[in-house]
Amino acid sequence: MAAHKKRYLATDFKGFKGEPGPGDVVIIGAGLAGLFTALKLAPLPVTVIAAAPLGEGASSMWAQGGIAAAVGEGDSTAKHAADTIEAGAGIVDPDVARLVADEGPDRIRDLLGYGVPFDRDLEGHYVLSKEAAHSEKRVVRVSGDKAGAAIMQALIAAVRATPSIRVLEGYEADDLIVADGGRVEGVRLIRPTALGNGRYAFVPASAVVLATGGVGALFALTTNPSYAKGEALAMAARAGAVIADPEFVQFHPTAIDAGIDPAPLATEALRGEGATLINSDGERFMLAIDPRGELAPRDVVARAVYNELNAGRRVYLDCRTAIGAHFAKEFPTVWGHCQRAGIDPSTDLIPVAPAEHYHMGGIATDEHGRTSLTGLWAVGEVASTGLHGANRLASNSLLEAVVFGARVANDIRELLPNDRIGHFVVPHRIPGSGRAADTASRKEAMQALRNIMTTHVGVQRSGRGLKKALTELKALEASNANDRVLSNMLLAARMIAAAALLRKESRGGHYRVDYPQTNPALAQRTFITLADLDAMDDVSKRRSEAPPLAACP
Ligand code: SIN
Repeated sequence: MAAHKKRYLATDFKGFKGEPGPGDVVIIGAGLAGLFTALKLAPLPVTVIAAAPLGEGASSMWAQGGIAAAVGEGDSTAKHAADTIEAGAGIVDPDVARLVADEGPDRIRDLLGYGVPFDRDLEGHYVLSKEAAHSEKRVVRVSGDKAGAAIMQALIAAVRATPSIRVLEGYEADDLIVADGGRVEGVRLIRPTALGNGRYAFVPASAVVLATGGVGALFALTTNPSYAKGEALAMAARAGAVIADPEFVQFHPTAIDAGIDPAPLATEALRGEGATLINSDGERFMLAIDPRGELAPRDVVARAVYNELNAGRRVYLDCRTAIGAHFAKEFPTVWGHCQRAGIDPSTDLIPVAPAEHYHMGGIATDEHGRTSLTGLWAVGEVASTGLHGANRLASNSLLEAVVFGARVANDIRELLPNDRIGHFVVPHRIPGSGRAADTASRKEAMQALRNIMTTHVGVQRSGRGLKKALTELKALEASNANDRVLSNMLLAARMIAAAALLRKESRGGHYRVDYPQTNPALAQRTFITLADLDAMDDVSKRRSEAPPLAACP
């Protein structure tokens, strides 16, 4: 492992124009988790590093369903926690489920305070949607399916109006700066104009918060923005952090199958309103698979859709009767996606396919969002808090982002000694020069990586396929060792594939055709480090180099 652990010296801090102050908390990522944490840290000086202009690179912006919280009549945080635990297929941390459900209503009030215009009825009650595996209508929404965009717009405005937060747009982090003694003391940024020629900026920090989102861009079919590359998993693992549950990836059953990358989402709330799934033979196939039909847990529906497609039939979401003429008004985002794909969902069927949607695994964190490394916190999809287990309950992700965003901010505030916190007035925005284009060879390698992951580490997995994936990923890693962006993606992919190979059972989002049953003896979370991954490699190398058994004395 030592070989992976790059340590930086104080002399590496070359400074950089418009530089964050040495006392800043540096947050990598500007989705809901990153921005909420930054706002909760105010007035402490914070620098947010955003790969794209604010709002453009974040999955949160694309969230359609909304935020799950027990705010409806007849609902309770105990019921919400119970549904979360049930959906997570035996490995949710019940304490985390309870704390997230309990703190949900307060965080919804915080969002209202930032100006999020949640849908209300004439009496002022929240209008709530129902999504799969929720026992109550519990999803707080905005203008039907515009929750993510509305929440992000409100928070972006709040961030822009907060003088203690500065935003570096157009910069990507690719490594952590780890001091002797193991404390994380900053990050290395790639300047967009320097992509490929090895010029970096080093940013010291009093605390580093990783909030980079998910891993969708590692898969050929995904609903995530192309920025969701899993790089922070690799950065943290290289620095020695523990990674939890990487094998658990959620595939959304109803990505719109219209040849668009990333695939636009047709929200589960459509099925909550009665939309059905039919195949090209006109059969409504879900009822034969699960009595809950289209609102069975997401992994069950995703596998059913996958099997239909594998059998050579197409699958469609039929919204014609359940939603029909109200479609444009009730679900404006999906309506727009359909229009762009030449589909009128009030009269046409929507072709759908399962696509990578959410990573339950991530950097292991405790109830404060602390990672196993001093000085490093993680929040949002990049973290693995124990809330989601093997299968995330719909619309719990935005909730987790705000509950843990507040917790991380409190923790940092309490832990940081005052003398590390600067009080200077800072320039507010430091825009970057935009995203540098990927080179042709990087694009080719990325596509190869994405195909490997969707083919062998997707909805359906097998020991043979996972081993093939690991071999191919290692080969790609070896031939792209000098490209840190690609190396980070490949390492994150390899952690997912390796943990999937190790888990010899099926559970939640992880389905093995060679181990199709859930094994109660394996109802534990996975905790893995880069050293473990290297040890696996050594064992398989020794096995492949060993003489065949027949040749042994
Ligand atoms: C959806 O709207 O179907 C997605 C919601 C979620 O992933 O939580």
